[in-house]
Amino acid sequence: MTAKRILLIIGGGIAAYKSIELVRLLRKSGHVVRCVLTRAGEQFVTPLTLAALSENKVYTSLFDLKDEVEMGHIQLSREADLVVVAPATADLMAKMAGGIADDLATTLLLATDKPVLAAPAMNVRMWLHPATQRNVSTLRGDGVTVMQPDEGEMACGEYGPGRLPEPEAIHAAIVEALSSPLPLAGGAGGGPVAGEAEVDMPSPNPSRKREGDFRGQPDFAPTNHRPLHGRRILITAGPTHEPIDPVRYIANRSSGKQGFAIAAAAAEAGAEVLLIAGPVPLPTPPGVVRVDVETAREMAEEVAGGLPADAAIMVAAVADWRAADTRAQKIKKDGSGAVPPLALAENPDILASVAKSPDRPPLLVGFAAETNDVIAHAEAKLARKGCDWIVANDVSADPMGGETNRVHIISKAGVESWDRLPKGAVARKLMEKIADDLDLRSPLDSD
Ligand code: CTP
Repeated sequence: MTAKRILLIIGGGIAAYKSIELVRLLRKSGHVVRCVLTRAGEQFVTPLTLAALSENKVYTSLFDLKDEVEMGHIQLSREADLVVVAPATADLMAKMAGGIADDLATTLLLATDKPVLAAPAMNVRMWLHPATQRNVSTLRGDGVTVMQPDEGEMACGEYGPGRLPEPEAIHAAIVEALSSPLPLAGGAGGGPVAGEAEVDMPSPNPSRKREGDFRGQPDFAPTNHRPLHGRRILITAGPTHEPIDPVRYIANRSSGKQGFAIAAAAAEAGAEVLLIAGPVPLPTPPGVVRVDVETAREMAEEVAGGLPADAAIMVAAVADWRAADTRAQKIKKDGSGAVPPLALAENPDILASVAKSPDRPPLLVGFAAETNDVIAHAEAKLARKGCDWIVANDVSADPMGGETNRVHIISKAGVESWDRLPKGAVARKLMEKIADDLDLRSPLDSD
C-alpha cells in the first residue's frame, strides 16, 4: 500500500496510551501521521511523545493562530486520507453525533470531508448506555466506521465491552479502510444515511456472558451486498446440555457449525444478529452478539428475552428431555450393580412457544435433522411447530458435525431441495432467501 496521510485524533481516557503504539505501527507501515490531542487526551499522553513518534507537529488548540496561518483547521482536516479517532470517548462520540464543534478535534471532525474511523473506549456502562448506542447508530448512519470495542476487564475494574481495541486491530481496520472506498462522513460520499430502528430488547439474564452488541450495525462489512441491513435476526445453535449431576449430562451430537455459519452469513448480509448458543467450542462470528447457554430452559429464557426480531432461525438441537431431578452431588455406584433410576422431564419446545407468542417474528424458521422420511417428517413438524419454514436435512448418510448439508426447505408453498453444499454456502443461500422474504415485509417498528 502506498503511504497515506492519517489524522489521528486522540481523546481523553486511560486507553490513550495505546495511541502511542498505534502511531508507531502506522509509521512502521510507512504512513504519515498527524496527531491532534484533545484537552482531556493531554492528561494521558504528552504532545512531545506523539511528536517524537510521528515526526510531525502535534496539534492541541483551535486558537493557535500561528497554525491558522500555516495550516488552517479546514486544511488540516482535509489533507488527510483518513481521520481516525482513538480513543473515541463517549463524550467525543456524543459531540460528533451532535455536530458540536467546540475544540480543535471536534471542529476538524465537523469540517472534514474524509472518511472517519472511530475506535471507542469507555466504561462498559457508558458503552451500553442508550445515549451512547444512539450516538453510535447516528454516527454509523452518517457513514462513520465505528469499531466494536473489545470486551474484558476494564481499568475501572468492571467487565464487559468498552475496552479500546488493541493497536494492531485498529491498525488493521485503518489498512482496511484505506484500501476500501469508505463512505464519507457528513453525507459527502453518499454513505448509508438511514437511521436505524431501535427496539428495546427485554433484558435476559444479565449474569450470562454476552459478546458484542446486538444493537447497531455490525462493524464488519466484508461486502457491500447488505440485503439484511436494518433487520434483526435471532438464531439458536448447537446442542443443549441437561445436567444429571455435577459431572454428567444429557447431550446430542450437534456441532453448532450450521447455526454459526448462518449467524456469520446474516451479519455479513448486514443484519443485527443475536446468536444464542449451546455449549460449542466455536469462535463468535464477527459482528454477531452471542449469548452462551447450557440448558434448553436457559435457551428458552434467552430467546424470549431476545425478541422481537424480524426473523428467528432455530438451528439448535434442543434436548427434548432433561433429568427430572438434577442431583446436587455426583451419583455414586453402591457396589450392588443396581442401576440408578433416571427419570426424565420434557423440555419446553422453544420453537413452538415462539410461534405462539405475541412476539412471534414475521419469519420463523425451524430446522430438522432427520434420518428417514425426511420430507414427510418435516412437513408434519412444520404444522406441529407453527413455523413458516422447516429446513430439513438428512443426517442418515452424513451424521451431525460434518462440513456439508443437503437441505430441503419445506413451507406452505411446497418443497425446495438444494444440492449438497458446504455449510457456509447453505447459510448464505438461506440468507438470500430470507432477505427476499423479508423484502416483502416492512421492518419492525421502532418502538
Ligand atoms: N426445537 C425447539 N425446542 C425443543 C425442540 C426443538 O425449539 N425443545 C426446535 C429446533 O431448534 C428445531 C425444531 O424445533 O428448529 C425441530 O427440532 P427437532 O429436534 O427436529 O424437533 P422435535 O420436536 O424434537 O422432533 P423429534 O421428535 O424429531 O425430535
